[in-house]
Amino acid sequence: MISCRVCGNQLEKFMSFGKMPIANRFLLPKQFDSEYFFELAPAFCKSCFTFQIIEQPSPEKMFHNNYAFYSSTSRYMQLHFKEFAYEVINSILMGRDEPFVVEIGSNDGIMLRHFKDKGCRHLGIEPSENVADVARKNGVNSLSKFFDVDLAEQIIEEYGQADVILSANAMCHISDINSVARGISLLLKPKGVLIFEDPYLGDMISKVSYDQIYDEHVFIFSATSVSRIFQQYGLELINAIPQITHGGSMRYILAPIGSHLVSPNVKKIIDKEIEQGLPLPDTYEKFKENCEKSRDTLLELLNRLKDRGKRVVGYGATSKSTTVTNYCKIGPEHIEFISDTTPIKQGRFTPGMHIPVRPYEEFTKNFPEYALLFAWNHAQEIFEKEVKFKYAKGKWISYVPNVDIIE
Ligand code: SAH
Ligand code: TYD
Ligand code: ZN
Repeated sequence: MISCRVCGNQLEKFMSFGKMPIANRFLLPKQFDSEYFFELAPAFCKSCFTFQIIEQPSPEKMFHNNYAFYSSTSRYMQLHFKEFAYEVINSILMGRDEPFVVEIGSNDGIMLRHFKDKGCRHLGIEPSENVADVARKNGVNSLSKFFDVDLAEQIIEEYGQADVILSANAMCHISDINSVARGISLLLKPKGVLIFEDPYLGDMISKVSYDQIYDEHVFIFSATSVSRIFQQYGLELINAIPQITHGGSMRYILAPIGSHLVSPNVKKIIDKEIEQGLPLPDTYEKFKENCEKSRDTLLELLNRLKDRGKRVVGYGATSKSTTVTNYCKIGPEHIEFISDTTPIKQGRFTPGMHIPVRPYEEFTKNFPEYALLFAWNHAQEIFEKEVKFKYAKGKWISYVPNVDIIE
């Protein structure tokens, strides 16, 4: 029996997405036979209310020197992290003497570069060396290690405690969350602040965006679960601010208990989670049914288009699309290729279903009739960019929040 990573309570899976490969491992044909699979099954802890997957591959299988996700591929995300950085610089860091900022999961330096530009003392923790190398080339101080309590102690010894610890779309990747939370509680100064954001459980349930569940996302947090996890280590949730990024995220602000005022937002959001039924097992039964409906409708639509001989291309070889393609059984017979701007994904094949990934230029030089929007979380940015596709009478297919053809 598997126990909850937070509180040790026994976990029961309420559904399974079946056998899944590593979401960010794009393959060459010679690697097809040795592809690694695990069972992707989520569970909801009835005791501490933390949503998590039961089995997660080892961190080294997912984060290494050939990691395929570069944060700066989205211009919208570049702006988002610039605003995030400046909010911190212009508020918490104001009046602090030589502040020190640490980011967990700093990737190519998309956020820390702004602290560097301001001459602020900073350190990025980024185990995937190839993406950290981009940050280092741009002058962002980055350490290619996995953050945990031992690393926190080493950082304290070498650099001292931190004024601010930041993280975006990375906290939900780390299985040993107790070690991370304890590490943060040690690393943070008594008046320090932890700010992190991750895809939000409330949005995933309401939009049926089940593709947020894949190997890397071991947790999908809510304000309720975050507050409980960090309370054990003397940190209090002092604010929670919804974000539109990645299809609906939440920014959590925490500080040593009693060191800061608690915003009324915290209670409002936790009450809203109760109203939405997030602490209730029935919610997850309904979510399972909604996932099955979404899967069946999407596959039917793609089969119909295939039977009518339509050209369908995927847009964005996202990690999320690994769950969708493998769960729905969408393969090269449905989708000619997936267009992606990331050089190390191009010329390779998607995990599990082995759909070719091609450079973006192949999408623009010969528009298909339909484009399946796997990067639906970047829809606004993409629709603004792809006006020519629209003029060419191309149609978008989306599956969040509903399977739909967008004319
Ligand atoms: N913050 C960026 C990157 C998100 S991807 C953004 O929002 O775009 C998640 C990142 O977390 C990856 O780059 C991965 O290598 C890193 N990561 C995974 N486990 C980690 C750990 N234990 N400590 C620090 N970073 C980790
Ligand atoms: P993203 O949705 O940010 O993350 P995840 O992998 O965690 O699901 O991934 C977006 C992918 O889409 C990434 O590989 C880059 C690609 N992309 C494009 O090809 N064109 C675009 O205009 C944008 C915004 C992204
Ligand atoms: Zn639990």
